[in-house]
Amino acid sequence: MCTIRCCLYYCSPDHAAMLKIISFLICFNCVFAYFTLSGKCPDKVTLQEDFRLADFYGKWYQSYHYSSDGQQQNNCSTLELLTRPSGIYLNQSRVDRGLFHRFSIGKLDINPRVENAARLDLIFAFKNAPRRLKTRRYPFHILATNYNYYATVYTCEYSPLIDKHFIYVWILSRNPILNDVSKELAIKPLNQIGVDSSKLVKDDQSKCVPKYYEDVPTEPMTFRFPVPI
Ligand SMILES: *[C@@H]1O[C@H](CO)[C@@H](O)[C@H](O)[C@H]1NC(C)=O
Ligand SMILES: *[C@@H]1O[C@H](CO)[C@@H](O)[C@H](O)[C@H]1NC(C)=O
Repeated sequence: MCTIRCCLYYCSPDHAAMLKIISFLICFNCVFAYFTLSGKCPDKVTLQEDFRLADFYGKWYQSYHYSSDGQQQNNCSTLELLTRPSGIYLNQSRVDRGLFHRFSIGKLDINPRVENAARLDLIFAFKNAPRRLKTRRYPFHILATNYNYYATVYTCEYSPLIDKHFIYVWILSRNPILNDVSKELAIKPLNQIGVDSSKLVKDDQSKCVPKYYEDVPTEPMTFRFPVPI
């Protein structure tokens, strides 16, 4: 939350210099809190072979996740692809702070090379943001899936300014509870990206009827950093 607000201030051209400086300091703090893993994003990661997007349709429950900054502000998260005339989108829904049922919609950028089918990107559009922040692109890479039970997906962002990166991992399940065999298969590829599976956080899918329901898309929570820094 704080990152997006303060960086919007910082980048908006018509703000007073003083405000910019203050915002930059806040911004800088956020950068340090968000990017905590040293060096660049892991490279030479082997993704799901022959990934078939058509078989990825349908609802996925987030049964475990890993967020390298240790933040957890929501639960009851689900992911689902949507087909619209303008393309294929991902609907990420969740319950924020135990109170608000919300969702975010990102457009999938599909890699045209068949051998890179699992190397997807998600593009979020922010109509009211300053020009250079109107669209934001994040990797959404499928590490492994058998389509019927589990899927392991991750995103990574790198900050050249402080030479650190951020990783978020989704362990997805077709059922609200992931069976043990599938869980084993799902966590196997995590060593490739240097994530210790004991750091996965189990998501609660049991009390998913919050007080408030919002039916317009909001900012994504799993991709929080708006500008490449
Ligand atoms: C996104 O998913 C949530 C939960 O399934 C649903 O309530 C919401 O209507 C969906 N949004 C769209 C645009 O389909
Ligand atoms: C969901 O998350 C919120 C805030 O992170 C927490 O207060 C609430 O207890 C959680 N709900 C469940 C059922 O775990």
